Amino acid sequence: MENWHIESRILLGYVLDQDAAGLIAHGDRKLSATQIDSYKKIAVKRQKGIPVAYLTGIREFWSLPIRVNDRVLIPRHETETLVEHVLALMDGSPDARILELGTGSGAIALALASELPHARISATDNSVQALAVARGNQRALGFNNIEFLQGDWFKNLGGEKYHLICSNPPYLSADDKHLQIGDVRFEPRDALVADGGGYAAVNHIARHAKTYLRSGGWIVLEHGFQQAQGVRKRLSDEGYGDITTAQDLSGNDRVTAARLN
Ligand SMILES: C[S@@+](CC[C@H](N)C(=O)[O-])C[C@H]1O[C@@H](n2cnc3c(N)ncnc32)[C@H](O)[C@@H]1O
Repeated sequence: MENWHIESRILLGYVLDQDAAGLIAHGDRKLSATQIDSYKKIAVKRQKGIPVAYLTGIREFWSLPIRVNDRVLIPRHETETLVEHVLALMDGSPDARILELGTGSGAIALALASELPHARISATDNSVQALAVARGNQRALGFNNIEFLQGDWFKNLGGEKYHLICSNPPYLSADDKHLQIGDVRFEPRDALVADGGGYAAVNHIARHAKTYLRSGGWIVLEHGFQQAQGVRKRLSDEGYGDITTAQDLSGNDRVTAARLN
């Protein structure tokens, strides 16, 4: 099915408060004038480019309904590769201490909490508005093993050491042409763009994570599909070992992990 077809169904379902099955089951229903008006209004917003997830306020991630607004990045399916990688590394450590940096909507931390109910997860963001969204998602989904903390990367963490630190940090360079295309135009710039050609956040996290990792602990970073080599070099320069890169479902290099030996 074409994208516009899928999107128009999602938006109609949103206006009518019906899921896909409900739309099909009641396919012959007549819409009221108010419903038609609401649908037209939302279609006009979509025509202006506003992302579907911001219009409906929801995006599925790891089969969880994640609430979003325009203060947070819309969780991407590619990021499920990072979740899969973290779960594989934490297999056998159900009560691990995990830190997620730059949590946004909380999607990664919530996905991990759903799979590792005995893990203790800390998740930080410097955006107060993003953390309000993340905490709202936590309340709605009821995962109590995450603490959300506000602060600049590692600032405001205590002296705790983690088995694993993960992040999907901003990694686009300021002149990246993708910033002018599609949904990205409407997402918070701070969630997308990093100085230093897109590497500033990765560099900062790679350098400082060493202080917060237990010996043998893992760092797992999502990055742009052309950044694997740069991220691997940075991790190697910082002294990490066992460096591996995983591909997303499209076959693009997407997640690099390394170990503090
Ligand atoms: C690419 S988004 C990832 C959001 C979410 N983890 C996801 O994968 O959908 C990067 C996140 O890093 C946060 N961020 C940017 N600079 C930061 C900083 N200096 N300290 C903490 N968080 C930061 C942004 O607010 C944003 O939520």
